[in-house]
Amino acid sequence: MKNILVTGGAGFIGSNYINYVLNKRDDIFIVNLDKLTYAGNLENLKSIENNRNYTFVKGDIVNGELVDYLFRKYNIEYVVNFAAESHVDRSILGSEVFYQSNVIGTNVLLEAGKRFGIKKFLQVSTDEVYGSLGPEGLFTEENQIVPNSPYSSSKAAADLMALSFYHTHGMPVVITRYSNNYGPYQFPEKLIPLMIINILNDKKLPVYGDGLNVRDWIYVLDHNKAVDLVLENGKIGNVYNIGASQEMKNIEIVKLILNILGKDESLIEYVKDRPGHDRRYAIDSSKIQNELGWTPDYKFEQAIQDTVKWYVENKNWWERIISGDYQKYYANLYGNK
Ligand code: NAD
Ligand code: DAU
Repeated sequence: MKNILVTGGAGFIGSNYINYVLNKRDDIFIVNLDKLTYAGNLENLKSIENNRNYTFVKGDIVNGELVDYLFRKYNIEYVVNFAAESHVDRSILGSEVFYQSNVIGTNVLLEAGKRFGIKKFLQVSTDEVYGSLGPEGLFTEENQIVPNSPYSSSKAAADLMALSFYHTHGMPVVITRYSNNYGPYQFPEKLIPLMIINILNDKKLPVYGDGLNVRDWIYVLDHNKAVDLVLENGKIGNVYNIGASQEMKNIEIVKLILNILGKDESLIEYVKDRPGHDRRYAIDSSKIQNELGWTPDYKFEQAIQDTVKWYVENKNWWERIISGDYQKYYANLYGNK
C-alpha cells in the first residue's frame, strides 16, 4: 500500500484525480488535505467518500503542526501538491493569500517531506511560469521562468523552491507543468465553465481585450493519467510539461460553446483586458511522451461537448456555487451584468 498525501483534493483537478485514481487502483491510500476555500467542494468527491482507501482532513497546508501530524499518523510516503490559489484574476485583485498558500504552504510540505524522508514529492505546476509566447514557438522545460501575474509568480517560486530541495537535500522532487485544463467540477470563475453557465443563464459573455489570446487546452482526465505516471516513473529532479497540443483563441472557444448550446453570438461582450494578460501559451509535451509514454486519450472536439453536457446535466452543482459569495466576486470583477 502506498500512502499518498494529496493536497487540494477537493478542487477541480485534485478531485478529478482522486476520483480517477481510486477507481483504478487499490494499492494506494489517499489522505486528502484541503482547506476548503471557495474553490474546494466535497460534493466533487461524493462517489468515493466512503472508499476504505481514502480519508479527508480539512486543514491548511500552511499549518506545519497539522502537516507533521498527518505525515506521522498516516506514514506518508508520497505527496501530490495540488493545493493552491489558482485564479489569475483573483491574484490581481489581491495577492497575499497566493503567496501564503502557494509559496509558504509548499515550503511547509517540502520541509515535512524532507524530515520524514518521503519517496516522491510531486509539485503540480503550470505553463504560466514560462510567461507569454509570441505567435510562434512552444514552451519546453528549458524555457526561462519569467512569470507575469502574482499567481504565476507564486507558482514559479514554489517550483524553484522544490527544485532547490532536490539540489540541496537530494529530495525526490518532480514537477509537472500543465496547460489549461477543462472538464467537470471546474469552478465557474474559469473561462470555459463561466461561459457555459452564463449562456445557460442568458448572461453576457465577458471576453477580455480582443479575444485573440491563445490558450492550449487539456482535458482533465488526460491530466489525471499524467499525474499517476509521473508519480510512478517520473525522474527525480525533473520537470515535465504536459499539454494536448490544442491551441485555441479565447473567442473561438466562446463561439464554439455558443454553437454547442445552439445560441447566437449576441451575448458576446468585449470587456476591458486583464492587466498583464499573457498573450499565448502553447506547450511542448514531447519529453513526457518520449520518456514516460504519456499521450492524451481525449480529442478536444468530443471532450468539449462532454464538458458542456456535464454542466447542463449538473445544474445543482454549479447553482449552489454561483449563489452567495461568488456573486460579490463577480460583481466586483465584471460589474452587475
Ligand atoms: P482549484 O482552485 O479548483 O482548487 C484548489 C484547491 O486547493 C481547493 O480545493 C482549495 O480548497 C485548496 N486549497 C487552496 N489553498 C489551500 C491551502 N492553503 N491548504 C489546503 N488546501 C488549499 O484549482 P485547480 O484548477 O484544481 O488547480 C489545482 C492545481 O493545479 C493548482 O496548483 C494549480 O496551480 C495547478 N494548475 C491548474 C491548471 C488549470 O488549468 N486549472 C493548469 C495547470 C496547473
Ligand atoms: O495555463 C495554466 C493556467 O490556466 C493555470 O495555471 C491556472 O490555474 C488556470 O486558472 C488557467 O489560467 P488562465 O488565466 O489561462 O485561465 P482562465 O480560465 O482564467 O482564462 C483563460 C483565458 O480566457 C485567458 O486568456 C483570459 C480569458 N478570459 C477569462 C475569463 C475568466 C476571458 O476572456 N474572460 C473571462 O471572463
